[in-house]
Amino acid sequence: MTVLRDADLAAAFDRAAHSYDTLVAANPGYHGHLRRSARRLGLPHPGAGLRVLDLGCGTGASTAALARVLPGAEITAVDASAGMLDRAMAKSWQGRVRFVCAPAEALAEAGVDGPFDAVFAAYLFRNVADPDAVLDAVHDLLAPHGRLAVHEYTLSGRPLDRAVWSAVCRGLVLPVATALGDGDLYRHLWRSVVDFDTVDRFTDRVRSRGFDHVRALPLPGWQTGITHTIVAHRGARPGRVGR
Ligand SMILES: C[S@@+](CC[C@H](N)C(=O)[O-])C[C@H]1O[C@@H](n2cnc3c(N)ncnc32)[C@H](O)[C@@H]1O
Repeated sequence: MTVLRDADLAAAFDRAAHSYDTLVAANPGYHGHLRRSARRLGLPHPGAGLRVLDLGCGTGASTAALARVLPGAEITAVDASAGMLDRAMAKSWQGRVRFVCAPAEALAEAGVDGPFDAVFAAYLFRNVADPDAVLDAVHDLLAPHGRLAVHEYTLSGRPLDRAVWSAVCRGLVLPVATALGDGDLYRHLWRSVVDFDTVDRFTDRVRSRGFDHVRALPLPGWQTGITHTIVAHRGARPGRVGR
């Protein structure tokens, strides 16, 4: 199976939105790890006066992590799937949270304007057709020296980590998701991670789009070597390579 993209992917997320929160709640550390990545933005608590973009907010798990870590910030949460976003908007939100239905590739058209002090993208980048183009858009939306945190399944490159990922998907995630009628999306999850950049490749990619202070930080538990936070600052120079 090839990975899903664009309208097909948004439709798959629309269909799977009903079970998304249940499935991620069964993943040990899911919410705690998102909060850890939000803290890794390194912004001052409570973030009063800061503008933060949550790109690919889904049902709001990453938005909730940002709201917990930076309760004073103004959060704009964007997703291409109306079904996922409906779930997010149905939750109760304290503080200033705005939801926008738009693809990450067309933010300006949807009225999402910078500058943002930080962009958080949790489990987004391996889903987009052109990660370089989305990194460029993020770079343009950030204030000078603004922060980026990408929380993503980015494999270490060690065969053991890849084998653990495939074993978790084959043995646990796919049987449960298939029973819930969401097999297509979770087959995409499996393949999209295997096909995506390793963590070193992704940090190189982020650097090549004009970011500096780029670092990949590990996450604990079964996700060790599988999930990372990649943090970066918007560089002073536009310096992009290869576009
Ligand atoms: C795996 S979910 C993660 C949701 C949330 N960030 C979280 O941590 O639970 C990925 C989300 O990215 C969204 N997405 C995928 N491709 C997108 C794109 N090109 N533009 C905007 N959202 C996209 C999907 O609709 C989905 O809601």
